[in-house]
Amino acid sequence: MNTLELVDHGPVIPVIVIDRLADAVPLAEALVAGGVRVLEVTLRTPVALQAIRAMSAVPGAIVGAGTLRQAADARAAHEAGAVFGVSPGYTAELGAACREIGLPLLPGVATASEVMAAQADGLSFLKFFPATAAGGIPMLKALAGPFADVVFCPTGGISLATAPDFLALPNVKVCGGSWLTPADAVRNGDWARITQLAREASALAR
Ligand code: 3PG
Repeated sequence: MNTLELVDHGPVIPVIVIDRLADAVPLAEALVAGGVRVLEVTLRTPVALQAIRAMSAVPGAIVGAGTLRQAADARAAHEAGAVFGVSPGYTAELGAACREIGLPLLPGVATASEVMAAQADGLSFLKFFPATAAGGIPMLKALAGPFADVVFCPTGGISLATAPDFLALPNVKVCGGSWLTPADAVRNGDWARITQLAREASALAR
């Protein structure tokens, strides 16, 4: 798989934090029911790898691992069944590890130099992170000039209300965000609310 294939499945990639393993499968089912199939599970909790394994068995779910920071994270995610990886930034070490194990990587960038480093390693579909704090829409427009061949997935500080403006940019094909999985909804098992949020996100035009 090429990470760019992920954009075929919809305009939003939810950024997911799983605190309780028991939430993993119903959460994935709720998102898929709302039309959101590509799921980024962040490696930020002790159960994240187990959650990736469990969610990967949910029909229709395409599960990747987020918050990859080191080569070992990429290997662990791959072993847990992640089919893609997302990182907050980019290092050549992480890129090399992902290439070696065959894990498609969507690396984070926030500056022109970081775009150049990722492109030098063959990566042209990049997460723009933290999107809002790092300059938002004006920055993405500015990057479109020198990097006309780069496609971005802005993530960080985006909501259902602001996503359309990002998705309207020619160099944006998909947005990431945690707004589809509010912590209180997950804690309370309010899967209907999450399905509704997923429906609204998957209906966004681009
Ligand atoms: C993250 O890494 O937590 C993502 O960028 C999500 O950001 P958000 O919570 O602002 O959507």
